[in-house]
Amino acid sequence: METQPPPVEEMSAVTLTSDGPPSPSGPRRTLIRSIVARPDGGLGLVGSKVTVGGMVKTGREQGKGSFAFLELNDGSYLDSLQVIVDSSVADLGRLVPTGTSVLVEGELKKTPDGTKQPVELRVQRVLDVGSVDPSKYPIPKTKLTLEFLRDFVHLRARTNTFNGSCQSPSSVLLSQISAVTRIRDELAFATHTFFRENGFRYVHTPIITTSDCEGAGEMFQVTAMFSDAEKLEKELKENPPPSEDEIEAAKLLVKEKGEAVSHLKSIKASKADIGASVSLLTSAKENLARLEERFKLKAGIAQKDGKIDYSRDFFGRQAFLTVSGQLQVETYACALGNVYTFGPTFRAEHSHTSRHLAEFWMIEPEIAFADLQEDMYYAESYVRFLCQWLLDHCFRDMEFMVKNYDKTAIDRLRLVASTPFKRISYTEAIKLLESVTDKKFENKVQWGIDLASEHERYLTEVVFKKPVIVYNYPKGIKAFYMRLNDDDKTVAAMDVLVPKVGELIGGSQREERYDILVRRIQEAELPLEPYEWYLDLRRYGTLKHSGFGLGFERMILFATGLDNIRDVIPFPRYPGRADL
Ligand code: 4AD
Ligand code: MG
Repeated sequence: METQPPPVEEMSAVTLTSDGPPSPSGPRRTLIRSIVARPDGGLGLVGSKVTVGGMVKTGREQGKGSFAFLELNDGSYLDSLQVIVDSSVADLGRLVPTGTSVLVEGELKKTPDGTKQPVELRVQRVLDVGSVDPSKYPIPKTKLTLEFLRDFVHLRARTNTFNGSCQSPSSVLLSQISAVTRIRDELAFATHTFFRENGFRYVHTPIITTSDCEGAGEMFQVTAMFSDAEKLEKELKENPPPSEDEIEAAKLLVKEKGEAVSHLKSIKASKADIGASVSLLTSAKENLARLEERFKLKAGIAQKDGKIDYSRDFFGRQAFLTVSGQLQVETYACALGNVYTFGPTFRAEHSHTSRHLAEFWMIEPEIAFADLQEDMYYAESYVRFLCQWLLDHCFRDMEFMVKNYDKTAIDRLRLVASTPFKRISYTEAIKLLESVTDKKFENKVQWGIDLASEHERYLTEVVFKKPVIVYNYPKGIKAFYMRLNDDDKTVAAMDVLVPKVGELIGGSQREERYDILVRRIQEAELPLEPYEWYLDLRRYGTLKHSGFGLGFERMILFATGLDNIRDVIPFPRYPGRADL
């Protein structure tokens, strides 16, 4: 059920979360959600005076220009509020173009019987207008696709025109972005709620890192060397370095000044004369040092022994954008117990799929003293909690998805919220896939392969028809930090596979045994040095622990049933594209 807005007498202004009476200096704007999302559609508010602000989705002048209807949407809810403005109140021509922003004050009135919305706003004062030239507005009302909207990531969030009176295919598409944005926000809030309720602490792990968590070499490098080199090149052009002759002259000057000091000392000159001479020598030395320093400056990237000299880079070493906060959050799990991190992660994979982004958000809990079983328990509870949360808090937006996009979206949330996940070992999964006769896979199935998306989806969509947790993968295809099983062939890893998406979660029990961890790092042909601090966690007071990472955008794909991951993140980054 939607949360109830406050009662009418307390409702001159509300925010999404505060439902107490507004303070005199509080927000002036009433959210459209708090009017139209009420079970009575706003009828109980008839007669109230409110101020609303939003974007005109559609506007039309009527009664020979004597009044105008505006469908006003402020982004707080899927549905818009109908607003009526009289020509005696404002210049109607300025208000009606799609995309105009308005802040208006008026009285809520009951609409005539048979009208879709039970209430409308009669405007008494127009407080603010941000006008739009309809001939130039880049988001036309026709010929829109989600792909087209990706060229306007700065404007697409405004697009929510879905309401009773306006249901063209384009308006449906337009609504997706804002509906998805609200679903995304709810999932983020649900995430913090779930972990807080389960005793986890939220830890911010770094975005810039010097260790490769997954060891897959898919990191974006962070460097100031290029911009430093460009600056230097410019500077050297404007202010060329000294010549060898200038250096020689400066050296000569130092020598002369040195001799002058010695001479004054030998003739036992006065302290004042010697002091003055010493200070001339000091400034000659400083001048020489400065010239020598500039003499060494060379345009281009700093090199040493034929390689890039990263000791001259900003951090004095190579640095990267993180692919995962796991290793760092483990340090806090080994101190505070159950923790999680939730932040952006970056991968320079050249995958052009509808499931991959170069910048995506990940939720990574780390559970102290937990084995793989407990890890799976938390992964399942968390995903089921998220599904239930959307049913409880975002039903209208989910209905929109069902009506216009994926008929099964709500059923899928209900199913997942109420059904235990299937658990199956990798070895069993491979046997099962090998016995499949009704489908030909593009990628050959045999023990040892990394499951491809087609295999994952077959397991979850066709065989089990619900989320599946596959565990105990071959060590050769998984990261170095996963705990080696006693068979010496598999590691205590688990992936959660869900319909529509395939892999939603990847996790594992961590290797807590020092010697084995060192061996696994070496086997993965990774250098030990960047992981010394990680090994310290095993050197001193090591403990069993487990964790996982949930791809936030994949969760949104799963929930909404949308097809492309680029449409569920406000500012998608993928090969060839990083707008804004
Ligand atoms: O399986 P992954 O690589 O696991 C880790 O990064 C671990 N360090 C997590 C942990 O144990 N703390 O990634 C986790 C999840 C995947 O299951 C997938 O949902 C998502 O992150 N993911 C991506 N999502 C969008 N675009 C990409 N390029 C993604 N790569 C992984
Ligand atoms: Mg994975």
